Amino acid sequence: MMKKILVLYYSSYGHVETMAKAVCEGVTSVAGVELSLKRVPELVPQELAEKSGFVLNQSAELARPAELADYDAILFGVPTRFGNMASQMRNFLDQTGGLWAQGKLIGKIGSAFTSTGTGGGNETTLQSLHTTLFHHGMLVVGLPYSCPELADISEVKGGSPLGAACIAGADGSRAPSAKELAMAKFQGKHVAELCLRMQG
Ligand SMILES: Cc1cc2nc3c(=O)[nH]c(=O)nc-3n(C[C@H](O)[C@H](O)[C@H](O)COP(=O)(O)O)c2cc1C
Repeated sequence: MMKKILVLYYSSYGHVETMAKAVCEGVTSVAGVELSLKRVPELVPQELAEKSGFVLNQSAELARPAELADYDAILFGVPTRFGNMASQMRNFLDQTGGLWAQGKLIGKIGSAFTSTGTGGGNETTLQSLHTTLFHHGMLVVGLPYSCPELADISEVKGGSPLGAACIAGADGSRAPSAKELAMAKFQGKHVAELCLRMQG
């Protein structure tokens, strides 16, 4: 039977959106999985979002909290805000109390990737997401060191065993690099392969 995988993200300026697409490439490189790419709703008022230069024409469809129960694995992408996940994803997850009460996510794979400006908060942001995934009883998957870019220190980049990450620059002008995208792709493939190994 096909395994269902969701890549669910929030992105203000497009870095996490780009990373999410690379994660999707990794997922779909594995046969036997069905992929959905979705995002969580914006919370910043339209006028302020426009003034702040948010990317407002993202094509991914909006997810509903209840649908998380429909997938075998979920990869969450979210930028850092002061070292924590952005409130848009926090708010979405805070609407999953009903799923938690019914244990609907227990035993599913959960994995997370991020983007930071300077790298400050890269790992704590992922940990803030992981904590919620543990509360849901998910099997939390990171990025193993078999991903070659992880041990490569030849250039500035995000990414750690906790998950793929991009360094957007303090002014957000740096796009995810080829190595950061390769890590995102690796993580997507890794999760898809693990998902296929799980029975029942
Ligand atoms: C309110 C706010 C807080 C932020 N806090 C941090 C931070 O703690 N560390 C950091 O490196 N970048 C920080 N940033 C920069 C964002 O993480 C960066 O814009 C983001 O990674 C870009 O991802 P996106 O293009 O997907 O929105 C912050 C940005 C905002 C707006």
